Amino acid sequence: MQSKIENPTIFVTRRWPAEAEEALKLYFNPTFNYDDVPLSAEQLSEGFSTHDALAPTVSDLIDKKVIAAGAAGRGRLIANYGVGVNHIDLTAAKNANISVSNTPGVLTDATADLTVTLILMLARRAGEGERELRSRNWTGWRPTHLMGREVRGKTLGIIGMGRIGKAVGQRAALGFGMNIIFFNRSKIRDIEDYPAIQLDNVDEVCRRADFISLHCAASPETFKILSADRISMMKHDACVINTARGDVIDEKALALALKRRKIGGAGLDVFDGEPDVDQALIDAPNTVLLPHLGSATLETRTAMGLKVVENAKAFFDGKPLIDPVK
Ligand code: DGY
Repeated sequence: MQSKIENPTIFVTRRWPAEAEEALKLYFNPTFNYDDVPLSAEQLSEGFSTHDALAPTVSDLIDKKVIAAGAAGRGRLIANYGVGVNHIDLTAAKNANISVSNTPGVLTDATADLTVTLILMLARRAGEGERELRSRNWTGWRPTHLMGREVRGKTLGIIGMGRIGKAVGQRAALGFGMNIIFFNRSKIRDIEDYPAIQLDNVDEVCRRADFISLHCAASPETFKILSADRISMMKHDACVINTARGDVIDEKALALALKRRKIGGAGLDVFDGEPDVDQALIDAPNTVLLPHLGSATLETRTAMGLKVVENAKAFFDGKPLIDPVK
């Protein structure tokens, strides 16, 4: 465990909501990126090596070079602003004796709400309707105009039944009358407030679901878990929703399936290599594409910052991290 450090310094890579930045100032000596522009690898390395802690976000690549630079200087802690840590080389951090924390729990509701937003936008063709109206192509009300589908009674297949997957299932089952099936690598026994059936393979979820929503963490095991093969197993009108990480889907195969109208649609909030988005997805029909907004509410983004503060405070007070990442 870290011994107590007085007035620790923390390098914060992007701007946070005001309340969270104020909380940081109460306990630490923070350096902010006032221009809020993406930082280069050199700037991240320099920042980490000259501060006791680094507070990065999903858009900063914290690779072994940045970690080595931090470890060779003052860096002791990476207090990630966010729950996903696939942008951090955890092995390098462990080898360099750098601790890592994240912010689980506080973004569950916001991310689940956005997932349901995407499900409903796809079902009700809201993206298409918005684009039609804005391009002044709306010719008026008619009985067969942009008919969508009801979600009540449809099957939602969830891949990855952690906190967010469960919260999506709850909203879909109790709020919208959907049937829930899911895949999770370990057995889930604590879903009591709504019916949900655990299936023991992803293929079966793909075959049976009308909507497939991904909620697994990015890892070598989940890389392209929604593969070309599995996309080809989906019902012809089924939709894919992704608020997890871009690389859990084979995006090229998805774009092709959409273009050939082999599946019903896709609602994507995350992309492999974001903020670059594959042109094939931009061009694909029946998509709703959002710029990684899952946790983007003032309440949640503030709570994420406060979680970073709690973790860093515990660490520099010589206590165990509240949300350690191993
Ligand atoms: C996370 O916390 O992992 C989100 O994707 C960033 O909002």
